[in-house]
Amino acid sequence: MALMPPIERQGWQQRWTFIAASTGAAVGLGNLWKFSYLAGENGGAAFVLVYLASVFLLALPILLAEVIIGSRGRANPVSSLHHVALEAGSSRFWQIIAWLGVAASLLILSYYSVIAGWIFAYVEAMFDDVFIGLNVRLVGDHFNHLLEDPRRLIIWHSSFVALIVLIAAFGVKRGVARAARILIPVLIIALILLAVYASKIGDIDTALEFLFKPDWSALTPAMILAAMGQAFFTLSIGMGAMMAFGAHRPDRHSVVGMLAMVALLDTAVALLAGLAIFPLVFSLNIEPAMGPGLMFVALPYAFGQMVYGDFFGLLFFLMVACVSLTSGVALLEPVTAWLVERFNWWRPLAATAVGVLVWLLGLLTVFSLNLWADINLWGMGVFEWLDFISANILLPLGAWLIALFVGWWMRAEVISDEMFDDHPWIFSLWRLLLRYIAAPAVLVIFIVPLYQRLIG
Ligand code: PFF
Repeated sequence: MALMPPIERQGWQQRWTFIAASTGAAVGLGNLWKFSYLAGENGGAAFVLVYLASVFLLALPILLAEVIIGSRGRANPVSSLHHVALEAGSSRFWQIIAWLGVAASLLILSYYSVIAGWIFAYVEAMFDDVFIGLNVRLVGDHFNHLLEDPRRLIIWHSSFVALIVLIAAFGVKRGVARAARILIPVLIIALILLAVYASKIGDIDTALEFLFKPDWSALTPAMILAAMGQAFFTLSIGMGAMMAFGAHRPDRHSVVGMLAMVALLDTAVALLAGLAIFPLVFSLNIEPAMGPGLMFVALPYAFGQMVYGDFFGLLFFLMVACVSLTSGVALLEPVTAWLVERFNWWRPLAATAVGVLVWLLGLLTVFSLNLWADINLWGMGVFEWLDFISANILLPLGAWLIALFVGWWMRAEVISDEMFDDHPWIFSLWRLLLRYIAAPAVLVIFIVPLYQRLIG
């Protein structure tokens, strides 16, 4: 006998499909790879706390605003913005949000794909039992050899791009949502087990202190900008992706409730990844500020020591490869959908064209890790510049414009139309946060470090 009447059950399923698909886009390399190395580089707890505050006070309200634009426009980001700007009686200027999103998503996907390629390479290495019993220096050497080998990096980068293009081309997005429904809970369980294991073989006390006991001397404008950029990156804000999801959101469900769930799950994954990685970092004397390789040294070492570690390591890296694919597809989708809807391109052609562009841009990251390792401008290499421009400039700028537009320009009745079933006080609180906290805070956090960098 059915436990719920069919309509209700269908509604429940739609709700979970939306949450799973958005969480699939949100949870990815940002939670595991980027969160851990940024926390390591920026002094730990102070960064983590600013990041948490940014997620819930700035990013979540702006995420809701972005979804509402998509939900109102019901199309790709460029067309949605055109529509909502017209409806609000405002100028076409606001379409710039979509163009910033296009630029950010292409740049981010270009390096995301290279890092996802590292994950693929580690799946292969786990399959070949490379790490069994290795000491941490040898595990580190393995990582450095990968970076020094442009040919291998290009092979894996190409594989990642090819896979996301295939998924996007044949419109198996429903499949992605279905996969995410299984992947995310399994990933969370795996991370909990890994964190427990790391606390046994690693130095959990130092890790907890590092992650949760702030040393406020680490608090600088540049660090706050990095934490905010990471909050936007991890919730996939400012790239048009969530706007595209908003266009398909289920009717008759509270958007606020669904998005809060996404933010909670996403934050849980990042913190669990931190708890799995940092006990090892401290017991192995790995430098927390070593940079993007942090997780690629700490975790393979742990698997190398574990009973059946080759098997568990393989499963773990496979799972991370899958969540990076769901994020990659979400990053590819807005521009692909725009080409299909605006210019009537055949979907496989559109996805391939975007894929080729991203692949070419990705070569910048590949070579910056080896052949161009010495090129640097103001202390940053090519890869760091790509990341800085996208996560610390384009995302905050896009997010700020979204907050301004939805907070001050869009009409309240139009917005509340899109927020089905949410209590009036939630609406008022959210609008207040958007107008008076998020919009000014993002602007200040964005401007001050840039000003310092240019003047200083
Ligand atoms: N949020 C993803 C992560 O943390 O790995 C990255 C991302 C995915 C950004 C999809 C944007 C997007 F549309």
